[in-house]
Amino acid sequence: MTQKATPVTHLADDRFTVTEWRFAPGAETGWHVHGHDYVIVPLTDGKLGLDLPGGQKAEATLTHGVPYSRRAGVEHNVTNAGSAPLSFLEVEWTADHLAEARVAVLHCFMAAWNARDVDALMDCMAEDCAFHASSGPGKEGARHVGRDAVRASYAALFETFPKARWSEDRHHVMGDTGLSEWRFTGTDRTGKEVDVQGCDIFRFDGEKIALKDSYRKTVIR
Ligand code: NI
Repeated sequence: MTQKATPVTHLADDRFTVTEWRFAPGAETGWHVHGHDYVIVPLTDGKLGLDLPGGQKAEATLTHGVPYSRRAGVEHNVTNAGSAPLSFLEVEWTADHLAEARVAVLHCFMAAWNARDVDALMDCMAEDCAFHASSGPGKEGARHVGRDAVRASYAALFETFPKARWSEDRHHVMGDTGLSEWRFTGTDRTGKEVDVQGCDIFRFDGEKIALKDSYRKTVIR
């Protein structure tokens, strides 16, 4: 039986897994599929033998300290094809759990708007929160600061628009900033119909929304 390479996990947090793989001469990892993008940092010089799907074989030269990256989906069995022990660090970008949680909050937030559910909207907001509306007296639009003011402004928006729907929504998170794109169609209390594209720029505090900063197209006919 072929000797197996030894994996040693040095770090596993909410974004990365770092594994040192140690190979005696002839040792192999066994077949595996990489589920994540990864970087290999050779800790020794060496020669890898690669078994690839379809029975193909390849060789790769490792140079101590010279890294390379691969995308998720690589499938292979890796063997130490040299005569000396060989090792490398495998750094996998496993996930960004905070970013995923924030995107989920943006989806919940949009669903709450369409459900006209102020409690559900406020569940998405941080303890210290604010809403800067798309229009108002200053360059930031109308500013509503604090949970009570934010709640009141959301409730007022539902009163202003007895019919309101947000659709064609797309949500993105980059660091502490979120972006939701949407189309708003509604009818206000006077019967006036609105159909515009817009977006919200968000600032997050943890997983919750600390600031909703709204922008809408101005329709000129
Ligand atoms: Ni691999």
